[in-house]
Amino acid sequence: MTNLAPLTNHQVRLAARPVGLPTRDGWSFSTEPVTEPSAGGIVIKTLSLSLDPAMRGWMNEGKSYIAPVGIGEVMRAGGIGKVIASANPKFAVDDIVTAGLGVQQYAAFDEAGIKQAGVAKIDLRMGSITQWLNVLGMPGMTGYFGLMDVGQPKAGETVVVSGAAGAVGQTVGQLAKIKGCRVVGIAGGKAKCDWVVNELGFDACIDYKGGSVRDGLKEHCPKGVDIYFDNVGGEILDQVLAKINRKARIIICGAISQYNNTTAIQGPKNYLSLLVNRARMEGIVVFDYADRYPIAIAEMAGYLKDGKMKSKEDIVVGIETFPETLLKLFNGENFGKLVLQVAAE
Ligand SMILES: NC(=O)c1ccc[n+]([C@@H]2O[C@H](COP(=O)([O-])OP(=O)(O)OC[C@H]3O[C@@H](n4cnc5c(N)ncnc54)[C@H](OP(=O)(O)O)[C@@H]3O)[C@@H](O)[C@H]2O)c1
Repeated sequence: MTNLAPLTNHQVRLAARPVGLPTRDGWSFSTEPVTEPSAGGIVIKTLSLSLDPAMRGWMNEGKSYIAPVGIGEVMRAGGIGKVIASANPKFAVDDIVTAGLGVQQYAAFDEAGIKQAGVAKIDLRMGSITQWLNVLGMPGMTGYFGLMDVGQPKAGETVVVSGAAGAVGQTVGQLAKIKGCRVVGIAGGKAKCDWVVNELGFDACIDYKGGSVRDGLKEHCPKGVDIYFDNVGGEILDQVLAKINRKARIIICGAISQYNNTTAIQGPKNYLSLLVNRARMEGIVVFDYADRYPIAIAEMAGYLKDGKMKSKEDIVVGIETFPETLLKLFNGENFGKLVLQVAAE
């Protein structure tokens, strides 16, 4: 058992609700001593945190699928950590767990908090820590259930996915290939596009920063679009709506192009294409599928093991870099799932 007395917990707290892109002065930094767990509780040392576009939404006031982070609270974040003290028979020191840890070096939970934070042991034989934050973690589950449950792909169909080189996008595209679909990605820049085609096996990728999405869809989707997995919203969504087939499925996973808007969100202008094509557009919130994560994790771990699926993470080291590292998601600097490494194992 680690002696907790000399340990200090460095934390990042939300200091102000941002307007537009979050800036460093919107965060505050605090320290606390690390104390022994209460009866039934545990203390976890944070190893790596998942940095997610959704964090931007959690910083806003107002109703969403989850309550906003309060001003002065430790910023919400999912992550992987190691149990360093346990007064709970279900967890032993050195267990590696996934949990809602928050942006802090140590997270202490009482018995109720363990449940609330979704603390669960993970098996590193199935994948590495960073893979557990990516393909085997929340983004992978989003891609899996969004594509399989909402999209319901059939072999031979054309699937388009935006944010193709990102965390969710890489899973969606690879899974759609495994299911026998034609897969066209949309991503920012040649390097990302080359990677999804050459390394992940997508059939094509449209560089929305280097050319016209409309022309790219025309060239690479000669039979139209059956499934569009939308991670970005905005103008790209409108362009894809113009190319959908009858009975197409559009999965609204996210709209990152709109998250830092200081003006009203740009909704789809081409929505009547849904009517003409008897198509549907459906939102997904990954947490709704929590009961079925183990099934998806087992399937995805199998693909990783067989080399049918790859998992790329972009790892930045140091909790103090959090304010700037988060911004990588919004300027497209992250290449793969963005992970903040807080401590080496
Ligand atoms: N519904 C759910 O339950 C759920 C769960 C997880 C994630 N999501 C959503 O899924 C989406 C992807 O999340 P992720 O974690 O996989 O992030 P990610 O794709 O790994 O990273 C974000 C990427 O978005 C792209 N991007 C940023 N600004 C853009 C813009 N203005 N236009 C087009 N693309 C832009 C950038 O890629 P480029 O370099 O290609 O521009 C950036 O790398 C987000 O919208 C997120 O909110 C939803």
